Amino acid sequence: MRIGVIGTGRIGTIHANTLSRHREVGSLILTDTDPGRAAELALRLGETAAPGVDEIFKWGVDAVVITTNTSAHAELIGRAARSGLPVFCEKPIALDLPGTLHAIGEVETAGTVLQMGFQRRFDTGYVGAREAVRAGRLGRLHTVRALTCDQAPPPAEYLPVSGGLYRDTLIHDFDAVRWVTGREVVEVYAAGTDAGGAMFRAVGDVDTAAVVLTLDDGTLATATATRLNGAGYDVRMELAGERDTIVVGLDDRTPIASTEPTGPPAADKPWPGFLERFGPAYEAELAAFVEVIHGERANPCDGREALQALRIAEACELSRAEHRPVRLAEIAGGREAVGV
Ligand SMILES: NC(=O)c1ccc[n+]([C@@H]2O[C@H](COP(=O)([O-])OP(=O)(O)OC[C@H]3O[C@@H](n4cnc5c(N)ncnc54)[C@H](O)[C@@H]3O)[C@@H](O)[C@H]2O)c1
Repeated sequence: MRIGVIGTGRIGTIHANTLSRHREVGSLILTDTDPGRAAELALRLGETAAPGVDEIFKWGVDAVVITTNTSAHAELIGRAARSGLPVFCEKPIALDLPGTLHAIGEVETAGTVLQMGFQRRFDTGYVGAREAVRAGRLGRLHTVRALTCDQAPPPAEYLPVSGGLYRDTLIHDFDAVRWVTGREVVEVYAAGTDAGGAMFRAVGDVDTAAVVLTLDDGTLATATATRLNGAGYDVRMELAGERDTIVVGLDDRTPIASTEPTGPPAADKPWPGFLERFGPAYEAELAAFVEVIHGERANPCDGREALQALRIAEACELSRAEHRPVRLAEIAGGREAVGV
């Protein structure tokens, strides 16, 4: 099987590495708007670089992996769908709802596959949490606390094309809350601060955010994120029910220090970033994509799933801007959306 990888930046490099080692993937064609970047990676992996996206489609591939900046995803998804190709695409589909709905429409009209890169669905901890909730081990779930803390901010040039902290980062927590609990979010109240680095203020983004989410069964969830967490990369989810409490992401690399004399020791080697923390999950989601291409398993995260996570992020932006709780029903693209 030959796969085209479009975008060879941070996440494209790790996905190309994984695919290049996969025994069912014969070869890769890599491309990037920075041709030197694609050529250097192709040389390192023993794969082929193409001068542009056109060549990916002209030379012929069996599937496409899209790891460009988010602003290019929707158009590339549409192009691959019209060529009848299965697509794996990094989150989110687009920076706005119309672009997201259009891309999903293209995929559904073409009858092709779009698998979205919400890798937490393949992380051992999140999988265990979902199983615990489904099995009723916690009793009635009443509280979920989700958090994503980057150790260091992304490059300044990434910020204006990222879509902001809710669409770029917290979207993972929104997807995880839905996926782990099996419930829908019906209302959000979001706050954010840009009191940190000037580069966030310059693009109207926030560097830290907190959200209260109400789920359709009355469960309350909080989700917080920050771009600058000196202790390390910290991604956790705590779920508390009437019978038990569990936590995802608490291990000997979690970057937190207890102030209790009998507490656990601080991590020797705290997680530095997403590439390390989620390495096995990134591999597992692409292994799943190969199985999806072969028709051996159902799509684990399609465009409609990604749409719901984006709607929550959109509701957060509105909530922060207007300082009020926002019902998800106010945001377009719900289950009733026509043409999707
Ligand atoms: N799942 C995750 O944990 C995770 C983590 C990081 C990033 N992401 C997502 O992955 C995507 C890329 O993020 P990144 O951190 O790798 O960014 P990046 O800036 O490091 O890399 C993006 C690359 O895409 C290239 N590019 C942009 N437009 C292109 C186009 N039209 N055609 C070809 N190449 C193009 C850029 O030149 C760059 O090399 C984003 O959508 C982001 O949301 C997901």
